[in-house]
Amino acid sequence: MSSSLDAYLRSALDADEGQRQIAEAIRHLCTASIKVRNTIIEGGSGNDLGGQRGDSNSDGDIQKELDVIADKAFLQAARDSSFAFFGSEEQDEAVTLSKDGLHAIAIDPLDGSSNISTNVSIGTIFSILPVTDAHRKNPKSVFEQKGANQLAAGFFTYGPQLQLVLTVGNGTHVFLFSPKFGGFVEQAASVMVADRSREFSANMSNYRHWDVHIRNYIDDCLAGAEGPRERDFGMRYVGSLVADAYRILQRGGVFLYPGDERKGYQKGRLRLMYEANPVAMLMEQAGGAATDGARRILDIEPESLHVRTPLVFGSKREVERIGRYMTDSD
Ligand code: AHG
Ligand code: MN
Ligand code: MN
Ligand code: MN
Repeated sequence: MSSSLDAYLRSALDADEGQRQIAEAIRHLCTASIKVRNTIIEGGSGNDLGGQRGDSNSDGDIQKELDVIADKAFLQAARDSSFAFFGSEEQDEAVTLSKDGLHAIAIDPLDGSSNISTNVSIGTIFSILPVTDAHRKNPKSVFEQKGANQLAAGFFTYGPQLQLVLTVGNGTHVFLFSPKFGGFVEQAASVMVADRSREFSANMSNYRHWDVHIRNYIDDCLAGAEGPRERDFGMRYVGSLVADAYRILQRGGVFLYPGDERKGYQKGRLRLMYEANPVAMLMEQAGGAATDGARRILDIEPESLHVRTPLVFGSKREVERIGRYMTDSD
């Protein structure tokens, strides 16, 4: 049964075989997302999805049951999509799937794992990259491509609703899974991020570790109407990147996960290839912006699949303002 996501994919990705393969891949990713969503819903029957599996991933995160279930579901979707390579938060090395695949996927199979057992929105974030003969000769290089090379990017949100936020380079679109309909239907075409905002999103418990310029920016927001910003600010922070990103697409705002002085956190916590790059493409396609505080995320040359980056994204004017704070003399 065709859904409006199918209709959108046929209209947006039909110029050549490569585009048709991306459309097919997005359909397979949707199938995997429904499996993960059903696991979460059935998870109420007692298997502890937020329970620790004991081992930790390359990033040092302790793997949760659902991290591994999601990783398996999306690896299968990648095989079904005839991707050449699968680079996942939950696997130390990229998996080679086929020698002649045209594309690769970098994926965060389950984003917001710390929220699994608290019934807060979590998700899956993905980035689809081109694969050339040069990459086939040196497979490591496929996940050293900068984010500007992405052909498509998106995230699923497992929350009160199952949603897909997607860009294939012509705007950011929102689709909603309709159980009645049995497919994803378009909820919003070309979402636009408000370019101004009075809301910031950050884990304030790390404030003392941040760079002085970031602290100056936050201080001025907290000073409110009596301070240099001459307006009061609100704060929202879910702790699932997909939930914070979706809220910002809906009502503007600026998200900050800065680097800090702690060992291992100099580049913050978020990963460039499967968190910052896809979110950055979605934000730019929605008229927003995404930087590492100063540099455009999509221009950053990755050293490896799991490299981290400080991340600031959302309302364009606010992201640019933070860039000016970063260059202020101390
Ligand atoms: P993941 O669960 O994929 O490891 O990602 C968690 C990330 C992201 O979802 C969120 O923005 C961030 O961790 C929250 O970090 P803190 O708990 O340090 O605030
Ligand atoms: Mn993790
Ligand atoms: Mn994540
Ligand atoms: Mn994850």
